[in-house]
Amino acid sequence: MIKIAIIAPSSEAKDAIANNLPRGVRVVESLVADGFKESAQQGRLRSAAPQIALVETANAEDLALAVRLVHQLLPGSWIFAVSEKTDPELIIETVRAGAREFLTKPLDRAALAEALDRFMAENKSDQAEPGKVLSVTSAKGGAGSTSVAINLASGTAGFPMAHVALVDLIYPLGDITAYLNLKPKYTLADAVKSVGRLDPVLLDTFVSQSGEVSVLAGPGEFGMGPSFPIDTVSKILSVFRQAYSHTIVDASSASDEQLLRLLSEVSESIVVVLTPEIPALWRTLRLLELMDSHGAGDKAKVVLNRSHKKDEITRRDIEKTLGREIFWCLPNDYRASIDAINAGKPLVTMNHSGLAGSFREFTERLTGMEFKQSKKGLFDFFSS
Ligand SMILES: Nc1ncnc2c1ncn2[C@@H]1O[C@H](COP(=O)(O)OP(=O)(O)OP(=O)(O)O)[C@@H](O)[C@H]1O
Ligand SMILES: [Mg+2]
Repeated sequence: MIKIAIIAPSSEAKDAIANNLPRGVRVVESLVADGFKESAQQGRLRSAAPQIALVETANAEDLALAVRLVHQLLPGSWIFAVSEKTDPELIIETVRAGAREFLTKPLDRAALAEALDRFMAENKSDQAEPGKVLSVTSAKGGAGSTSVAINLASGTAGFPMAHVALVDLIYPLGDITAYLNLKPKYTLADAVKSVGRLDPVLLDTFVSQSGEVSVLAGPGEFGMGPSFPIDTVSKILSVFRQAYSHTIVDASSASDEQLLRLLSEVSESIVVVLTPEIPALWRTLRLLELMDSHGAGDKAKVVLNRSHKKDEITRRDIEKTLGREIFWCLPNDYRASIDAINAGKPLVTMNHSGLAGSFREFTERLTGMEFKQSKKGLFDFFSS
């Protein structure tokens, strides 16, 4: 993920820049500041520590001065100067002042993407810390892993510092697009085809937006032959980690041992969803043993879904059989689950049902971030 700051003379100018940024970048500071002279703003800019600063001034004559000031404040960052004027003298002056790129207004998305590509190429070894992968799987179909993945992604996207992707790795037909009512132009199959030149900027063109979450849809059709080579999937996930703070992977009922091994390696946590029934319990035990053998047993977080006080198998029975604690219990609420699917939205964004609340608390515990209850009683978000 590339951290960007915008310094523009008006909020319209600031929005015109922000609206042209690809989603693989994150705006960490944006200042309306003509000439950029206030020391408080300079302090904010320095502490935001952007890798790139886009600088525009109302008058072209002030541009080089503003660029010089930003360059002094952020000597390691790239500066993109933005101006309506294109005369060579102005360009030379801003480059001498420290600009690495000169972009003309109205901003052209392709030109901006090319400039970002040049930045990426030069800073390959100096990337920001890679994001986290949180995978969701189950040992038996229908346990609720896609529902958990969708709500975990949507909940995490509510934290202000999070930039979240949701990847459907179910081969060949996943459910995410149907559950979120998306009609994706591109899918995982396109990312696979372009893997040799895949970077956060290209990846951005392949994802579809569902609220704040960027979704990479599964291929969505039969007849694609055997599943994708594991090295390719590994490379795609590494590009996601560059571009997003959190990548949630839906690997429902992962039966592919190679894929499970990869997810064991790259994930911070692997959520293993099960329902309280004997066949699910037996299979889950096997799956956890396999994860143990990959050295990833500690990453497994068991989630008991559709739990109910009257269940024949109790939480204690399950914990005893699996030889580990259940990380989280989600209540059974068929109506709320179906309503969310019919609405094409994550349950956590829809209502305050017990299940939605439980998804939120689960998201807090898993990510280590917290939702804050505002005075009005509505949820707003902050990261701890
Ligand atoms: N807590 C819950 N309460 C009631 N119904 C639920 C709950 N969680 C999921 N469901 C329902 O169970 C069904 C299966 O859920 P989901 O598709 O998320 O499971 P899955 O593990 O991804 O299945 P698959 O193996 O097909 O990938 C869906 O109809 C969903 O609405
Ligand atoms: Mg599923």
